[in-house]
Amino acid sequence: MKQFVLTTIAGVESIAKKEIEKQGGEIIEVKDRMILFSGDDTTMVRVNLWSRVANKVYLLAGRKDKVLNFDDYYNFLLTLDWKSLIPKDFSIYVKAKSIRSHLESENSLQKIAKKAVVDTIAGKWQYLEEDEKKGSIGIKLLCLEDTVYVMINTTGEALHKRGYREQAGEAPLKENLAAALVLLSGWNFKAPFYDLFCGSGTIAIEAAMIAKNIAPGLQRSFAFEDWGTELKTLKSEGSKLAKKEQYDGKYTILAGDNDEKVLDIARHNAFKAGVEDMITFMQRDYRDFAKAQLVGTMVSNPPYGMRLRPENLRQMYVDLNRLFQENEQLTGGIITSFEGNDMIMQAKNYKKRKLYNGGERCYFYKKK
Ligand SMILES: C[S@@+](CC[C@H](N)C(=O)[O-])C[C@H]1O[C@@H](n2cnc3c(N)ncnc32)[C@H](O)[C@@H]1O
Repeated sequence: MKQFVLTTIAGVESIAKKEIEKQGGEIIEVKDRMILFSGDDTTMVRVNLWSRVANKVYLLAGRKDKVLNFDDYYNFLLTLDWKSLIPKDFSIYVKAKSIRSHLESENSLQKIAKKAVVDTIAGKWQYLEEDEKKGSIGIKLLCLEDTVYVMINTTGEALHKRGYREQAGEAPLKENLAAALVLLSGWNFKAPFYDLFCGSGTIAIEAAMIAKNIAPGLQRSFAFEDWGTELKTLKSEGSKLAKKEQYDGKYTILAGDNDEKVLDIARHNAFKAGVEDMITFMQRDYRDFAKAQLVGTMVSNPPYGMRLRPENLRQMYVDLNRLFQENEQLTGGIITSFEGNDMIMQAKNYKKRKLYNGGERCYFYKKK
């Protein structure tokens, strides 16, 4: 058994934990934005292929508590079996992060780790990379509250890059955040699903992929595939199996936006994701949807920025609140960074959850 670390968006650790368990991983510890689990290579491959909310999956090469000075840190790194961790002739890329730890300087953590690796695999300075490149082994050193985690990136580029979104509109949601919202919304797949401000289509596309049980990693490659034929074979077997696990059901997914140009991007993205026949895209103002009775689940990411006049922005949230409250059979919620929404979507009617879209703090107001 090996140990792995899955990193995820803050606030959705419980979803990530279930995803790992579903793929056969055993949970060791759930922490803020990261989950330690054990499993074999098949588990690692399947979690990479199937996790909708993860950022990356790392192999945990070593962990040491109470590392309070750089000598201890260096000596600990020397105890690791770098020769077996780094396949022959691979370059390495080292990145460090320090959170609430005595060893604060990320630069020093990085430099010392490079030295430890090079001292162990003697004379291979030429294999150090300054930037993360495809084909290099990504080593991540995390100092979290004085515990050092030495991790090898099995994923490569972060998992929200599914491969279908070639273009995006303004302020797009990350794909893993959009998937998390659909999973949190409680959509039961039988009733219709709506996004009235679909932009480049991320929420609707993720909803369609969840409904059809399409593995989010099917269209992309992973760093581990370069590490040897055995892992490459596990990936292709996992992908074949994943294709068989897709559902055939019929679903109603309606996605609207008032900007025709962004709808073209959304249609193209849906096509790339293989779900274009599942989503009805419509050029519409959100108020046109509000004229009819809505039954089902709505998840939307309305505008929140400077482009709208403050009174129009506020009115939009007042309208959306009314839409949820007047349509008893409408569930779901909205995600926004618009601070004024607390006064409109009040705590008695909505559960508010703090999330992050990249570095930007936002809130998901879910109808109670
Ligand atoms: C924050 S963006 C949505 C981004 C989207 N979640 C994505 O991942 O690409 C908000 C969207 O609302 C649309 N919009 C603005 N005013 C609208 C209105 N009155 N009716 C419908 N859509 C509107 C904008 O065109 C924009 O695409």
